Amino acid sequence: MAHLHPRTQLSRESIFAQMSRLAAQHGAINLGQGFPSNPPPDFLLEAARRAIGSVDQYTPPIGLPRLREAVAEDLGVSPEDVIITAGGTEALHALAEALYGPDDEVVMLEPYFDVYIPQARIAGAEPVMVPMQLTERWEVDLPALERAISVRTQAILLTNPYNPTGSVFSRAEAQRIVELARRHDLWIISDEVYDELYFGEPPVRFRELAPERVFTVGSAGKRLEATGWRIGWIVTPPGLAPQVAGMRQWSSFCSAAPLQAAVAEALPIARKEGFYQALRESYGRRKDLLEQGLRSLGLKTFSPAGTYFLTALLPGLEAQTLVREAKVAIIPGSAFYLHNPAPQGLFRLAFCKTSDEIEQALERLGHYLKQVTP
Ligand SMILES: Cc1ncc(COP(=O)(O)O)c(C=O)c1O
Repeated sequence: MAHLHPRTQLSRESIFAQMSRLAAQHGAINLGQGFPSNPPPDFLLEAARRAIGSVDQYTPPIGLPRLREAVAEDLGVSPEDVIITAGGTEALHALAEALYGPDDEVVMLEPYFDVYIPQARIAGAEPVMVPMQLTERWEVDLPALERAISVRTQAILLTNPYNPTGSVFSRAEAQRIVELARRHDLWIISDEVYDELYFGEPPVRFRELAPERVFTVGSAGKRLEATGWRIGWIVTPPGLAPQVAGMRQWSSFCSAAPLQAAVAEALPIARKEGFYQALRESYGRRKDLLEQGLRSLGLKTFSPAGTYFLTALLPGLEAQTLVREAKVAIIPGSAFYLHNPAPQGLFRLAFCKTSDEIEQALERLGHYLKQVTP
């Protein structure tokens, strides 16, 4: 009997999609999935309206030249090394296809962002997980990272700033990781889709430490509050962009042409007009609102240095029950762990929502906690 390949096991609904579905079904406030409640900026929307009707046909798989140039200009790299993709997700997928195959291993940290595991497995590789340490803050266990490297390791896959922990690598940590990669001759994939979303010092860009072995992933969706546009990029080590872009030509071929044109126009405006600074200030206020609210409910939180996610301990609570009874959707820590157990009571909460939504979610949580705590 004809059958689907067993790899379709990987097609099951993600916890993020599930929680969004349940949130809609139960009229819950959705602090689960990381998409902003705010609309994208007008300068981006207006650029897209102008582009539709004038930039409508295929672009080269490597990307619309003017967008490659705009990304390169923004990041201070050569346009020759930039590939435009359908969001950070396709960028990561193209890299998995280009860098690993059967019998290879890819080392990554736990908790991890959900697409990393299926993408490695689709390429035939095995993810090797290194749990982060959680004390008063999230920290990378560098000796454990080195122990996880074997002769089969192809790459270290990192996120900076980090989803779900909200942590940011210190320069010293980043340098130690780069030394490890050099010593064992590994690629580094640095997922930097939240590169403009930080609350202290700007995060280290791994590429600047080792341009010859770092692939950087970026996302216009995250930067410009347009996650549905599906425009992202890869910056490759010099000379490798054509081969990596050649891999994505067999899936989407190219990203939406007018949206590429709009992002090309918007990137320099966002930089010049202080859009990212304003975004950081706005998210900083919402982070404080959520964090102080959770603390005043007696809950332990781990203050994020970047991203729009915050981790907290809500011991004894269960996500499916919370969405139904408290009418608040949040993501259980177990969603981010493959082999190791998640810290007891760990949840991730997204604060890319309006202040009203955050306040209401806090009120509902407080009310629910009063009901269930003896
Ligand atoms: C760490 C991380 N990498 C990549 C992505 C995917 O980015 P995009 O929406 O551009 O595909 C996300 C989205 O949530 C993310 O959190």
